[in-house]
Amino acid sequence: MLRLPRTIEWVDGRVRLINQLKLPHELEYVETSDWRRVAEAIRRMEIRGAPAIGVAAAFAMALAAVHSRAGSLEEALRELEECARILKSTRPTAVNLPWAVDRVLRAARAAADVEELREMVVRAALEVQRMDEECNRRIGELGEQLIDDGDTVMTICNAGSLATSYYGTATAPIYLAHERGKRVRVIALETRPYLQGARLTAWELKQAGIEVKVVTDNAMGIVMEREGVNLVIVGADRVTRRGYVANKVGTYPLALVAREHGVPFYVAAPTSSFDLSIEGPGEIPIEVRPSEEVVYIYGRRIAPEGVEAIYYAFDVTPPKLITGIITERGIFYPPYEKSIRRLLSAA
Ligand code: MRU
Repeated sequence: MLRLPRTIEWVDGRVRLINQLKLPHELEYVETSDWRRVAEAIRRMEIRGAPAIGVAAAFAMALAAVHSRAGSLEEALRELEECARILKSTRPTAVNLPWAVDRVLRAARAAADVEELREMVVRAALEVQRMDEECNRRIGELGEQLIDDGDTVMTICNAGSLATSYYGTATAPIYLAHERGKRVRVIALETRPYLQGARLTAWELKQAGIEVKVVTDNAMGIVMEREGVNLVIVGADRVTRRGYVANKVGTYPLALVAREHGVPFYVAAPTSSFDLSIEGPGEIPIEVRPSEEVVYIYGRRIAPEGVEAIYYAFDVTPPKLITGIITERGIFYPPYEKSIRRLLSAA
């Protein structure tokens, strides 16, 4: 049984989430009944990871509805639409966020009065969380079959339980393999500049009793060559209908290195991370974050004064480098345009 603390919870009309900026040193929670504070937590990356920010945004909508003083249904809907607009602007790349917000908004629009709106919005938000956990468990069951006893799996960023409701996406197959008695070793790329790999992936795998080693991002080539990496599994923030995958910056070079070494490269993502309205890489909004996050480390400048960084927070891996995409509805294989269309339309 996996025993990890819940990333985010709805508790008696309040939201409680792990402040991931404090990990691995402190397990501190943000607790609030104010939807704007949740929006702030997403923006500041106190909570991050595509499915987790989807759940957080859904819960923020629920807070807005529950604590609204609107006197009419129209007013309550207007408030929620404004809340949805602000939430969608917090982080641009993960499609799970607008996906979750729109689901909740649809539920609100079906209500007959303010009281029903509150109930339906809370129910829809909890459903987003429940579905995410269920999808990840299923991704784990399918992906676990790709892992052999004694395997070494490389991953980047944190596509773990902390990035979702539970289990994670890239980590779900690892947790399931471990639960079923397979020995698995994980190599986590540290993931500059936020260090999600070193801080978060290493923390949660250690909590779960799984062997984990951290390597610097630029060591991926030599480590892949010398450390017997059998498999790469990464998460996704947005998958287009032709199978282009946006994920944490560094994923694309990792896919190139894996291809060069003949190591299978899998993406693990729920279908809520798919954006079928777009095809190619250029259509994906890539988050550009402030230069300071790169040129300062823990408050100390590491580059000369006056020199700025270029900081794309995500990159796009082309389908030709992806062995398969593990979803809750099955594993998609190339050609992705066909397999994605077939599997999603069959659902
Ligand atoms: O900037 P972050 O930490 O939100 O980036 C997260 C990632 O890139 C994850 O791999 C992705 O969101 C998938 S999480 C299951």
